[in-house]
Amino acid sequence: MEIRPVTESFAAEIGGVDLSKPLSATGEASIKAAFWKYAVLVFPDQDLTPQQHIDFSKKFGPVETDRVLDPKVTPHRLDLSFADISNLTPEGKIWAGDSRQRMYKAGNKLWHTDSSFKPIAALASLLAARIVPPVGGNTEFASARAAYAALPATRKAELEGMVVVHRMTHPDKEHDDGYRDDDKARHVVTHPLIRTNPVNGRKALYVGAHAQEIVGMPPQEGRRILDELTAFCTQPQFVYSHSWRDGDAVMWDNRCALHRATTFDKTRYKRKLHRTTIAGKSPDSAFAAMP
Ligand SMILES: [Fe+2]
Repeated sequence: MEIRPVTESFAAEIGGVDLSKPLSATGEASIKAAFWKYAVLVFPDQDLTPQQHIDFSKKFGPVETDRVLDPKVTPHRLDLSFADISNLTPEGKIWAGDSRQRMYKAGNKLWHTDSSFKPIAALASLLAARIVPPVGGNTEFASARAAYAALPATRKAELEGMVVVHRMTHPDKEHDDGYRDDDKARHVVTHPLIRTNPVNGRKALYVGAHAQEIVGMPPQEGRRILDELTAFCTQPQFVYSHSWRDGDAVMWDNRCALHRATTFDKTRYKRKLHRTTIAGKSPDSAFAAMP
């Protein structure tokens, strides 16, 4: 196994490992150490079956199975352990230009962190490429840890102890978002604004599109601060943009990395990626050490 840093401390490529095969104890420990050190791990040349994808994910924690899009309007193409990151119908055809599904996915273009609207926030996501467009469709990652480190000490002190309301839906979304009303009501939770990783003591800003209010502040004032912090985190010096190759599997730490999808010609090219989302163990243990 070879760990090659792509950026100094945020993204690394891990070569010489086949995730479809059982890992040695040392191999697993090396991957977990890299996950702590970096936040985005790229595994090239993988060809995982759904079960192998799930099995590797489970080494980090439980895999989420509660999908939030209403299956009546967006039929599941995959096992409930997977988020379907594609522009394809259940028959494998490219969505029509005006399809409702296309609108539902519009939120993925906003900087966010997966499942921050759940009481048990996501620890990590593992996204495997099956079909990638020849141009565009990158996934961009922003280091909310490097951004926190770059804040002035006075700003860090002001933000310390703040608690943030996360919602599944985005307030600026004017269109039908494909979520069920009961799910929207259920997915309103609070998390600390600044989260500390107990293993390495590194702090990160926990912001993005789902982070919408600060507890104890007028909503607009909280939103202004959160938008400002998300903009701060996503400056070019904190961003790694991943250009997908067939067979790439990318895993990221949702506790300290924001991500967003970038555009591609969705009426011309197919793009199909499968994602598992790995949950923390309890509401307060999203940062607890992994097994
Ligand atoms: Fe996402």
